Amino acid sequence: MKRMSVSAYKYPERMIAISISYSIHQMIRNELDKKRRKAMDELERRKAELYSRFPRLDEIENEINTAGLRYNKAILMGKVPADSAAEELTQKIEELVEERRQILTANGYPADYLVPVFECSKCSDTGIISSPDGKGDILCVCYRQLLLDYLYDNSNLSISRNDGFASFNTDLYPDTVDEERYGIKKSPRRQIIGILENCRQFTERFGDPETRNLLFCGPTGTGKTFMAGCIAMELMRAGHTVLYFTAPALFNTIYEYRYNSGNNEEWDPGTYKNILEADLLIIDDLGTESPSAMRYAELLNILDTRTSNDIRKPCKTIIATNIDLRNLFEYYDERIVSRITGSFDIYRFAGDDIRNLRRQS
Ligand SMILES: Nc1ncnc2c1ncn2[C@@H]1O[C@H](COP(=O)(O)OP(=O)(O)O)[C@@H](O)[C@H]1O
Ligand SMILES: [Mg+2]
Ligand SMILES: [Zn+2]
Repeated sequence: MKRMSVSAYKYPERMIAISISYSIHQMIRNELDKKRRKAMDELERRKAELYSRFPRLDEIENEINTAGLRYNKAILMGKVPADSAAEELTQKIEELVEERRQILTANGYPADYLVPVFECSKCSDTGIISSPDGKGDILCVCYRQLLLDYLYDNSNLSISRNDGFASFNTDLYPDTVDEERYGIKKSPRRQIIGILENCRQFTERFGDPETRNLLFCGPTGTGKTFMAGCIAMELMRAGHTVLYFTAPALFNTIYEYRYNSGNNEEWDPGTYKNILEADLLIIDDLGTESPSAMRYAELLNILDTRTSNDIRKPCKTIIATNIDLRNLFEYYDERIVSRITGSFDIYRFAGDDIRNLRRQS
């Protein structure tokens, strides 16, 4: 937790940056509490539903809860030796659990119907797991992802509101071949089916250093951001961290970092580090940022650092742009364009503007 400096009161915008580490961790803990409560409320709902139909299940729960107490008491009173009591207790609980399982499955319920369902099965929504070497606790990946979401307002887009590739609808793309209109020799439908397959492979082989980055280009409303969001969702589910930026927000964050790291000792350098180290970085709408000489060097630095990080751990980048690749040369330095064409697989999105299609239907 960082102390607030006097200057923070004079400059409210700095106060936000400085007090960030405290308030964000607090917010994340609140959010995790909320998730746990939701899981427990849902469990209570299920219990209420089942216990009125099968009172024996209610009894079983009580017996499990009191079994430990009863055995403890018996040991304390010297009625049974501790070893055999522990064994008996385990056996008794196993029998009760098995009886519950049979009641559930015999009545068409899944065997784990009375186990709380947490969003993160790794940490049961506590945000903390024990470290692989067993020497203490570490932050779960779900906590690290929430941290990114808060730090960068990461959840401000469709990214968190899709169900992965399952929500990607290829029927929204016309099945007609019209090279003049769509700029490709196939129908947009066939094109997007191929892209979707390649994006699936990208997520499946995400940890492989041979897997190349992705560049999505094509006109507005052809699903580039949506596809990036589906990939993000699949990867987050698999336990990876994802950081999403529009190009203007990315460059603003970097400029802010450069400014503050020189002028403000309390500035948190983690902000910039995450851009270089998140498992997946999405840069959306490249080319819509305000032109400045620095952005070339910054983007080059990000891409190069991430590429070299990728050898140690997954560190891939997705870029989406509405700019035609030929024009990207004009917008961007030749070196960047060759970096992109060298280490990115390029996919052309084509079709009619899906936003308009939706409005008409
Ligand atoms: N394949 C798809 N399946 C379902 N909805 C889609 C699909 N592609 C795009 N959409 C929806 O259409 C709208 C425009 O897509 P978007 O990804 O923003 O386009 P782009 O980033 O190419 O401009 C969004 O609201 C998105 O939710
Ligand atoms: Mg977009
Ligand atoms: Zn977790």
